[in-house]
Amino acid sequence: MCGIIACTSTQEVRPLLLNGLRHLEYRGYDSAGLAVLTTSGHLEVHKKIGRVDSLAAHLPSSPPPAHLGISHTRWATHGEPSDSNAHPHLDQSGLLALVHNGTIENHADLKSQLLAAGHHFLSETDTEVLAHLVGQHYDASSASGPDRLTDSLRLALASVKGTFALAVIHRDLPDIIVGTRRGSPLVLGLGRNQHLLASDAAALLPHTRKVIFLNDLDITTISPDNFSIASLGPHTASWHISDLDLAPDAASRGHFPHFMLKEIHEQPLAISRSLHRRLDHDNASAHLDQLGLSPASLHHIDRVRIIGCGSALYAGMTGARMIESTAFLPADTEIAGEFRSLNRPLGNHSLVITVSQSGETADSLAALREARRKGALTLALTNHPSSSLAREADATLELLAGPEIGVAATKSFVSQLSAFALLALALGRLRHLPHHSGLELIHALEQLPSQIDSILAQSHSIAAIAARFASSHGMLFLGRGLLFPIALEGALKMKEISYIHAAGFAASELKHGVIALIDPHTPSVCLCPDDSLLSKNIGTIHEIKARRGPVIAITSNPNPEIDSLADAVIRIPATLDLLQPILHTIPLQLLAYHTALALGRDIDKPRNLAKSVTVD
Ligand code: M6R
Repeated sequence: MCGIIACTSTQEVRPLLLNGLRHLEYRGYDSAGLAVLTTSGHLEVHKKIGRVDSLAAHLPSSPPPAHLGISHTRWATHGEPSDSNAHPHLDQSGLLALVHNGTIENHADLKSQLLAAGHHFLSETDTEVLAHLVGQHYDASSASGPDRLTDSLRLALASVKGTFALAVIHRDLPDIIVGTRRGSPLVLGLGRNQHLLASDAAALLPHTRKVIFLNDLDITTISPDNFSIASLGPHTASWHISDLDLAPDAASRGHFPHFMLKEIHEQPLAISRSLHRRLDHDNASAHLDQLGLSPASLHHIDRVRIIGCGSALYAGMTGARMIESTAFLPADTEIAGEFRSLNRPLGNHSLVITVSQSGETADSLAALREARRKGALTLALTNHPSSSLAREADATLELLAGPEIGVAATKSFVSQLSAFALLALALGRLRHLPHHSGLELIHALEQLPSQIDSILAQSHSIAAIAARFASSHGMLFLGRGLLFPIALEGALKMKEISYIHAAGFAASELKHGVIALIDPHTPSVCLCPDDSLLSKNIGTIHEIKARRGPVIAITSNPNPEIDSLADAVIRIPATLDLLQPILHTIPLQLLAYHTALALGRDIDKPRNLAKSVTVD
């Protein structure tokens, strides 16, 4: 989704802006642009559909120096991907330039008013409307210097409905960038002789580790040697400087050809990190004291509702099943976008868990706010402890997966599953789970990293299976119980990066309609753990084979019946039922990855997708 990087410096800024845009590429975009103010006072704007490299190639070869600039990667919402719809956008005077993440809901009304006042527009975007609106107030303002820009933003934004993170410059203010946010993230980077604004802290890493995560309605004015933060709202702005705790190579692929493959291979480490110091062997439980939720408040919970989108939703569905089976607490899941639309009732003792890798997904944030409004206790499960979600929830369980750059969620998903296993353990031990069962779960959790390693070692044989079935026109993914959500996740992964139509189903639903899809060109991926449902899963394979459907079976212990029926078998280590979802996820990720590779897809930047969906 859209990305912003802006900088005011004592040095040339174009290379910094282009490099920053490259750090934002993983978020998904279709065009890129920048506006710089040259030291001779000329406002230069360049915008290009396609990759950042196309923008770079379009820039003049020996341009005049520029120490101030704003830049942007755009993921189209209002208006198709094109040079003219790319950001930055200028106001009517052509002297004010603005980049924007988010959506302006009342852009049509605002545009009509501006058209009536004689404004002309060059794009179909809501952002250009915003630029004109700010420019209109700038021209009418009696203030001078930076105050003129902050005042005009304050006045313009008072009539704007929607979400924004934005950075604005004006030709008459050679050192100054003004940035503000509402509902979309914006981070201020404190560099040496320079200050920066970015929508994503990772883009600031090459320049500084000292950052300020701006709050909603903060408005900041930055120059190379100074910054100030005020509020657009009635309160005084409060902020603190954080140290970015990211490895310098966090955003590099290392020796892997794709971020996705690197992140799949980082999963043993991610799981170890998420378990570290959270396993309580003495009490056969999990240390969740860092949540800040007292055992008493957790004990009072009589219902858990889990909310998320995409993979985070499927992690939540698995988590609900884990919590129900371990803690005997009613738990269910809701699509975040549905939760915010449906006005769901919440009891007095509900715990609402919002799951989100980024912590910035618009639907998930809106659902959290709705749950808080209704008085529920809220817990965020996120990879980003400084995200809006973490800051607004009553408590946060950090995933500790490390930065995830690939658009397809991989290590964040298994970290969400392991976080849910810990939560189920802790909630279970607060209720009826016996000590020995708690210890059994702890021991099984501790084995996961090496078990995942052993599945990763099968990457080559999974690649061969993927190559065999890569020309399929569709794929089905079937699982039962705890593995039904994993079938959904397997299908999502496959369609996201290979563009093969894939659908996940509860295996019990096969006979109720899905079976019509079975034919020799549609492989079914069957999740068959060696548990009490094994004979039912073997029955499902029989039904598929009877209709000449190819079967890829994922199973643990050798089973002669599965071996003779299935066209391909992927064997994974045995574990407790509760942890089967984690181990079954790994071969599904590899299957999707190798299928996409065989088809020559752009794995880290799949078409139309954005890493975090920060707009409605
Ligand atoms: O950042 P979030 O976890 O809130 O993102 C939720 C979904 O947008 C995300 O999981 C999406 O489905 C991924 N592309 C899945 O690979």
